[in-house]
Amino acid sequence: MDAPVVAVLSLKGGVGKTTVTLGLASAARHESRRVLVVDLDPQGNATAGLNLAESPAFTTSDVLYDGRTGVGLEAITSTGWGSLVDAIPAERALEHRAVPSGTDPVRRLQRALHGAADRYDMILLDCPPSLGELTRNALFAATQAVVVTEPSYFAVQGAAAAVEAVEVAGREGNSALRVTAIVPNRARLRLSEHQYRLAELHAAFGDTVTEPVSERTAIQQAQGAGVPIHDWKSSGARSAARTFDDLLGRVADISGQAMAQDIAAQEDS
Ligand SMILES: Nc1ncnc2c1ncn2[C@@H]1O[C@H](COP(=O)(O)OP(=O)(O)OP(=O)(O)O)[C@@H](O)[C@H]1O
Ligand SMILES: [Mg+2]
Repeated sequence: MDAPVVAVLSLKGGVGKTTVTLGLASAARHESRRVLVVDLDPQGNATAGLNLAESPAFTTSDVLYDGRTGVGLEAITSTGWGSLVDAIPAERALEHRAVPSGTDPVRRLQRALHGAADRYDMILLDCPPSLGELTRNALFAATQAVVVTEPSYFAVQGAAAAVEAVEVAGREGNSALRVTAIVPNRARLRLSEHQYRLAELHAAFGDTVTEPVSERTAIQQAQGAGVPIHDWKSSGARSAARTFDDLLGRVADISGQAMAQDIAAQEDS
């Protein structure tokens, strides 16, 4: 079975897309799953967090510009997170290099990633902070969308705009795409304001809203050190890691999928 391709997006910048992408990659690695992180943000934060050994030869910018079927496989590089986690890194040039027009410009990423789903258990697409062309490319390549938001006044509105972008991609051709999780990040549950905003999100989106990711210093420390949150030694890191484990189970049922493969393999032998 092909790996789930998970686009992590939000309407606003700085709400935690990269944090959720890296958290999911860390959780999958912890379960010995193979993950490909595609950094679609010219800021390259996911690329930095994955602690690449050397500066990359090819980036998502090159991949989108080239646009040949399967060309993304040539841009895959190993990361400092070990053999299970690879990346297609980003660079600043992505910002200036608008995705070329031509036939079906929103499907360039999907075409470029052709064949990648056979090689990994999950593919994560870290989107830039807008619902522009790069995010639209992610939504055409993805099988699932994870919307990240913060428990703030604009949370419901922001999540609704992201969900709408997913629905548009659905109507325009990627009919299999689903929003599998709306993740409230940087929650401080002691604050009544945050509890109120979380209740609002639940009222608007029901069970699609996951357990919130708490505000934790360990998340910033691990990111700064380029280390998976599961390898960071503190009680805050352990707690954050558990939240990402739950989220992994929710957004990409790769354990169930792997089990199905194991059963098939046993039946074959
Ligand atoms: N749960 C959290 N606890 C503590 N710090 C967090 C948490 N989530 C995110 N941060 C910090 O907030 C900043 C923004 O987070 P992040 O980079 O994940 O957001 P983003 O949505 O990817 O941003 P951008 O839109 O710029 O890509 C980072 O410095 C990150 O370490
Ligand atoms: Mg980011």
